[in-house]
Amino acid sequence: MREASEESSEAAAQKVPSVKEVRVGELAEKASVCVACDLCESRTNVVFGEGNANSPLVIVGEGPGENEDKTGRPFVGRAGKLLDECLRECGMLRRHVYITNVVRCRPTETDETGRVKNRPPRADEASTCINLWLEPTLTVIEPLVILCLGSPAANAIIKKGFKMMQERGRFFDSKYARYAIAGLHPAYILRQQGEAYDEARASLVKDIEAARLKVVEAKKEPPKTLF
Ligand code: URA
Repeated sequence: MREASEESSEAAAQKVPSVKEVRVGELAEKASVCVACDLCESRTNVVFGEGNANSPLVIVGEGPGENEDKTGRPFVGRAGKLLDECLRECGMLRRHVYITNVVRCRPTETDETGRVKNRPPRADEASTCINLWLEPTLTVIEPLVILCLGSPAANAIIKKGFKMMQERGRFFDSKYARYAIAGLHPAYILRQQGEAYDEARASLVKDIEAARLKVVEAKKEPPKTLF
């Protein structure tokens, strides 16, 4: 008699990947040797993205930090743990969404004490990575909804000059998805304290839930184009 776990791991091993999974995998493989900008010189790993390439919901963050650079996986540090908790509060796990970033290599700077720190991606780094990898990935996945975490993602996906504090939590048109919404970045939330932390965290849960409900609604709508 075979164990149930043995049978289910066999079934998983035999699962034929979808066209989207194959195409995203091909893009990730090409990106793993990318040298299109200076960030390739200091990276340990390219952090392409992970999750469900068939998902109607894509989450776009800013860029890898130290833990992501070490592991090659997005959102695995403290900010990632907070994101996972907020997703779970909305009934979702990582395997329900696809998670990626504006840039795929960790942007760093060295402070006066010689400590290597994260920094936001520069405009040239962001536009190179968007053109080469983010845009093609979103073209393959064709999400119904994109949730942008933080301003760099909102600037890339929604519009330049996005005002996070005034415009988060609202839906916008985007050339990358039927709807796009932005919420506070988990790393920003972690820098808040007391009531400000609770409020910021609650706003992220609210924005994730809004994105989830929009997917449910959008699935019932007719497509926006004829072909
Ligand atoms: N912050 C991000 O924006 N992306 C990650 O992958 C990790 C932290």
